[in-house]
Amino acid sequence: MSVTAISGSASGIGAAVAAALRAAGNEVIGIDRADAEVVADLSTEQGRAAAIAGVLERSGGVLDGLVCCAGVGVTAPSCGLILAVNYFGVSQLLEGLQGALARGRNPAALVIGSVAATQPGAEQQPMTGAMLEGDETRALDLANDLGQPHLAYACSKYAITHHARSLASGWGQRGMRLNVVAPGAVQTPLHQASLEDARFGKAVREFVAPLGRAGRPEEIAALVTFLQSEQARFVHGSVVFIDGGMDAMVRAPRF
Ligand code: NAI
Repeated sequence: MSVTAISGSASGIGAAVAAALRAAGNEVIGIDRADAEVVADLSTEQGRAAAIAGVLERSGGVLDGLVCCAGVGVTAPSCGLILAVNYFGVSQLLEGLQGALARGRNPAALVIGSVAATQPGAEQQPMTGAMLEGDETRALDLANDLGQPHLAYACSKYAITHHARSLASGWGQRGMRLNVVAPGAVQTPLHQASLEDARFGKAVREFVAPLGRAGRPEEIAALVTFLQSEQARFVHGSVVFIDGGMDAMVRAPRF
């Protein structure tokens, strides 16, 4: 039986991925703030260290899969928190668990990014540079000073996608796959909160994908399950959009 750690396993996409992998016969070690095998807060250094230690203890130091789903959206209490969870909470899990993955069988890791990563300007933002340099204090300060949750979210997703792709060469040479899945709108509590938000709700409601609906967590989980499986053994370093056509609608010439 293969063993996969999943962050954000208590809700939305992470819960659907956990259910799908369990149904496929995998052992799952969920990481979340509550209702998980490993309860930890990925927004802090201490919490991330506890998450890594908890997973290593439960897995005996050997992991076959890692799926990083935990994230917060534009309604998070602060812009800094968006970066702390979506970038540093993911990059430090990848770093802390890579040794366990290297000991696993056909190991594969996956990060849930977002179509928001392609938002124009995210690449050039100073907070993006600070994230990629690993300077958490500066990155969070820049995000909090700017006070634009949409931009902080886009930058966090751009930076983690860039980071994951930067790791692909080294990880591939060690026999470990690493991919990014970039969903569009998906019906989860995170999406619902942005729909109901007085600042962002109207824009979110009006930005509809060509297929005319939001995705379901199970639809994202089906793609994740495939990418984590042996069937996808040559897929590595990829960013796979699953967005009802949203990216094609906005950026047809960019691929
Ligand atoms: P969700 O809110 O249903 O689930 C997120 C999970 O992450 C929750 O269980 C939450 O407790 C956990 N989490 C948040 N902060 C944490 C922390 N500090 N420590 C530990 N766990 C923490 O949201 P959803 O939609 O399932 O989001 C999953 C991922 O998908 C996120 O990375 C999100 O950015 C991404 N995404 C979601 C989209 C959507 O429309 N729902 C679209 C594109 C990407």
